[in-house]
Amino acid sequence: MSASLATVSYLGATILFILCLGGLSNQETSRRGNLYGMIGMAIAVLATVFGPSVTAAGLPWIIGAMVVGAGIGLYLARVVQMTQMPELVAFMHSMVGLAACLVGFASYIDTSMPLTGAEKIIHEVEIYVGILIGAVTFSGSVIAFGKLSGKIGGKPLLLPGRHYLNLIGLLIVIYFGREFLHAETFAQGITPLIVMTVISLLFGIHMVMAIGGADMPVVVSMLNSYSGWAAAATGFMLSNDLLIVTGALVGSSGAILSYIMCAAMNRNFISVIAGGFGSDGGAPKPAAGGSAEPAGEVSPILAAETAELLREAKNVIIVPGYGMAVAQAQHIVYEITSHLREKGVNVRFGIHPVAGRMPGHMNVLLAEAKVPYDVVFEMDELNEDFPDTDVAMVIGANDIVNPAAQEDPTSPIAGMPVLEVWKAKTSIVMKRSMASGYAGVDNPLFYKDNNRMLFGDAKKMLDEVLVALMKD
Ligand code: TAP
Repeated sequence: MSASLATVSYLGATILFILCLGGLSNQETSRRGNLYGMIGMAIAVLATVFGPSVTAAGLPWIIGAMVVGAGIGLYLARVVQMTQMPELVAFMHSMVGLAACLVGFASYIDTSMPLTGAEKIIHEVEIYVGILIGAVTFSGSVIAFGKLSGKIGGKPLLLPGRHYLNLIGLLIVIYFGREFLHAETFAQGITPLIVMTVISLLFGIHMVMAIGGADMPVVVSMLNSYSGWAAAATGFMLSNDLLIVTGALVGSSGAILSYIMCAAMNRNFISVIAGGFGSDGGAPKPAAGGSAEPAGEVSPILAAETAELLREAKNVIIVPGYGMAVAQAQHIVYEITSHLREKGVNVRFGIHPVAGRMPGHMNVLLAEAKVPYDVVFEMDELNEDFPDTDVAMVIGANDIVNPAAQEDPTSPIAGMPVLEVWKAKTSIVMKRSMASGYAGVDNPLFYKDNNRMLFGDAKKMLDEVLVALMKD
């Protein structure tokens, strides 16, 4: 393939990637967005493999690596559970970071095209910065993977003077950067490069180890952004325009997503990076009043009584959370919704931006169960409607419906926007026990007079509710 055809293909792929991102911003257009992304990636891979920078001798190696990579990717995509998606994403980010490091070292070792003067300095800056971002992304993502999959405890590791440790690390990296750029020989340059890589790896580990509880989603999205910048840096090292543009798209969209998630959790981005939130690692916090006792009495309800309330309701809002994903209850939720809608009940869904364990988690599950898009609303679109709602049914959600976020300024989730289900005439919370949610804080909603607790696995309880509804 000629260089000009490869450039035109890269341009086409870039346009498709931008259309892909646009499509993914809305659930109705997300399938189309995915398709654009897949076509764009296929064009990008073909234009690179058959482009001018790949020699015939290198082709078998590339094809071999692609077969192995595609095989692993296909296998993982088939076996991964929806609830394991965040871990998979963290794992993929770590691979991007590792690739950036390896390409950086390879570019430095490769002396086939000796550079001089400004070109040499620019190339070495690209290598140094690329390996730095790649190493932070790699080790940070490995720790994020460990935390999300439960292999590493969720409790933040708060070393004494940790901010000073980070600052010292930064100063060492800057010092060795100077040494690297002034190195006359390969032997002089490789030592600062290795020292910087080790410090960057330690920084990535330290940064993510210090983060706990409800801040993990922001960190995953932030690492997504880093992986984009690592890819862009790789693009500079390899002089590959498409990699630069694609990396910048991933880097900037990840940064925007991190910002949106911070806003949804009312967290300041800097304090997220500084770490320390969720120090109890998901363990239940003492209930209001500082004692470890529950903050009041709860009123349990049976599935048959729930069905009765739903049958008599005119307006119902369903708020799904992480527990719906765990129980895989989305299909039965759809059946109940269809049944109630047929009976003339106005059923809508309220989706919190950080419900579940990844952005859009609930939307994906509801779409999989074929719940119509026009009854699925964002939190802000629906919050005002709770006072006119007869039944607010919370399915396996906890933090995102916690009134303490509004009522208790000392709560760790104070200020986080929440779905105000307690303003409905009756709220029903479906969960297995009184355990806390991801942020590890008690939920005063459970003790409100108009709240009922339907204890049990969400799928099992909803099955019983549907059976009772069918007895109509
Ligand atoms: P959570 O606050 O984690 O609450 C989920 C609840 O589901 C738990 O209290 C649990 O109670 C219940 N549950 C678990 N399995 C169940 C089952 N089989 N049947 C019925 N209930 C079950 O979830 P949420 O309200 O969706 O809030 C999300 C939280 O995760 C937020 O704190 C958010 O910051 C954080 N987070 C979000 C993301 C993103 S990007 N969405 C990523 C990581 C973390 P029982 O054990 O008593 O059943």
